Amino acid sequence: MKDWTGIGRPILLGLLGIMFLVSCRPEEEPEKKPVSVQSFDPASLVLDTPELEQGREIWMATCAQCHIRGLGGAPKIGDIAAWAPRIAKGKEVLYDHALHGFVGPQLNEMPAKGGFTDLTDDEVKLAVDFVVFASQ
Ligand code: HEC
Repeated sequence: MKDWTGIGRPILLGLLGIMFLVSCRPEEEPEKKPVSVQSFDPASLVLDTPELEQGREIWMATCAQCHIRGLGGAPKIGDIAAWAPRIAKGKEVLYDHALHGFVGPQLNEMPAKGGFTDLTDDEVKLAVDFVVFASQ
């Protein structure tokens, strides 16, 4: 009996400590994707062909401006969930939208050639091949 408070107090303090820790846990992000898009680094991808290497160079110099962080609603490179429904449209449709522009259902605009009108059609297609390779 005499020891009761001596044992009870550490337990109580322990419980308070746990409650404090639980209540302080940062809220989890609502939509956590399996792939961490933030840490996706296109430069470190291992590519199998010289065409993909060339596509990456073009992509990094132009398309990356919007597609690395998702500026203006652009699907981020490496974001598999964002790219799956687009890739499902087929390469030809993606080429067409990248070359001639496209306005999505949320009225976000992919400008023709990303606004880089100096790019040849083949260069734009190489960049599309690269982003598709990197995002599935
Ligand atoms: C000024 C910003 C910007 C630049 C630069 C840009 N894009 Fe986009 N892109 C977008 C946006 C925004 C969308 C999403 C449109 C939507 O579906 O809502 C998009 C979508 C796309 C799509 C998917 C189209 C579809 O049918 O779903 C492809 C492919 C694409 N871009 C390729 C490229 C390539 C290749 C380049 C570089 C040559 C490029 N983009 C540069 C903004 C940009």
